Amino acid sequence: MLKDKRILLIVAGGIAAYKALELVRRLQDQGARVRGILTAGGANFITPLALAALTGDKVHENLFSLTEESEMGHIRLARDCDLVAVVPATAHLMAKMAAGMADDLAATVLLATDKPILLAPAMNVVMWNHPATQANRALLEKRGVRFVGPGAGDLACGEVGSGRLAEVPDILAAIAALATPDQPLQGLRALVTSGPTREPIDPVRFIANHSSGKQGHAIAHALAGLGAEVTLVTGPVGLADPDGIRVVKVETAQQMLAACLKALPADVAVCAAAVADWRVKKPGAQKIKKVKGAAPPVLELVANPDILATLAALGADRPGLLIGFAAETEDVVKHATAKRQTKGCDWILGNDVGPESGTFGGDANTIHLVDSSGVETWPALSKDEVADRLAKRIALALVARPPRPGKGKRR
Ligand code: C5P
Repeated sequence: MLKDKRILLIVAGGIAAYKALELVRRLQDQGARVRGILTAGGANFITPLALAALTGDKVHENLFSLTEESEMGHIRLARDCDLVAVVPATAHLMAKMAAGMADDLAATVLLATDKPILLAPAMNVVMWNHPATQANRALLEKRGVRFVGPGAGDLACGEVGSGRLAEVPDILAAIAALATPDQPLQGLRALVTSGPTREPIDPVRFIANHSSGKQGHAIAHALAGLGAEVTLVTGPVGLADPDGIRVVKVETAQQMLAACLKALPADVAVCAAAVADWRVKKPGAQKIKKVKGAAPPVLELVANPDILATLAALGADRPGLLIGFAAETEDVVKHATAKRQTKGCDWILGNDVGPESGTFGGDANTIHLVDSSGVETWPALSKDEVADRLAKRIALALVARPPRPGKGKRR
């Protein structure tokens, strides 16, 4: 996805600087070429040698070094790239950028560049929340500088709160999105399931659940925003059809499965629907009557097909990347991890749907992403933000993957 993109990586001073080294590797895995600038503060945390060894290039450190300026002037350094990323970005460097200062190589390059700039801040929670830092962030954002993170959690200083460097995969995804503003999923096909299913008891009654479809619809919208050709197979929801998406409306799990199979091939499928596990074996052909004095009817249930597991077991027609959700009310990570195995999908997004979580029908969601490498817990995000983050991750995974012949990919 980042093939031949030239990333100028500025590493400023902060304990999280070591993560910039991992980022270099990950950028190179994506085909990017990385050139490094180390600030004086950054050099307290990682060595120029480590950065040079990984980038395979000289590390630029000095604005007033005759050798460095004669080899490559700071203006050329600022322009000979597709994107400038600052990882980690300190409060001090943000303040210098906001003020337009140019007292060292990093600040000068940031002032002289005409390329997109991405900042991944990392600092103490009080520093991040300080009105000065927040004013600088707002000003920089207004000028078009983009931010990834910071996340919340335990900080190196021992305090807890906002200020953690964003996770490397998220920085990578943000770089990819910014360096390839065109639509990275163009020419790829996505299938998304959303909403509940409705299993009839008789022509007027049904079994259903609280799923609002907000998360699935948001994912379909986000994938389309990145250029994918999306089919959204949805159960009954009170949401408008997202623009530019083929929407297939179904009621039951069996109809949902049939619609999904019809929508294949797909490069990615995200099963976000809350599919009813059981249906009534023999729904009444007419409304079941309440007869005074008679015992209430007993509903015999049979298992519904598992759409996610069915797609996973398709062999040649299996979507290239298959993602499920695990809506749980307890032990979310444990159940999500087990579910990834039993269903045979690639990623599973565990989320808490207990009554006090407010997930079902609400606007926020806390995700635990389980893949073959482990578990990653995302902060509480809006469902739109979850969709955005997931879509970017999907883009990164799909575009990095070699095309599989005969699959949905139609470039
Ligand atoms: O087993 P459980 O319902 O918790 O699994 C959740 C995941 O499996 C979700 O991704 C959901 O969309 C999918 N699923 C499905 N078909 C079913 C049941 C669940 O696709 N019958």
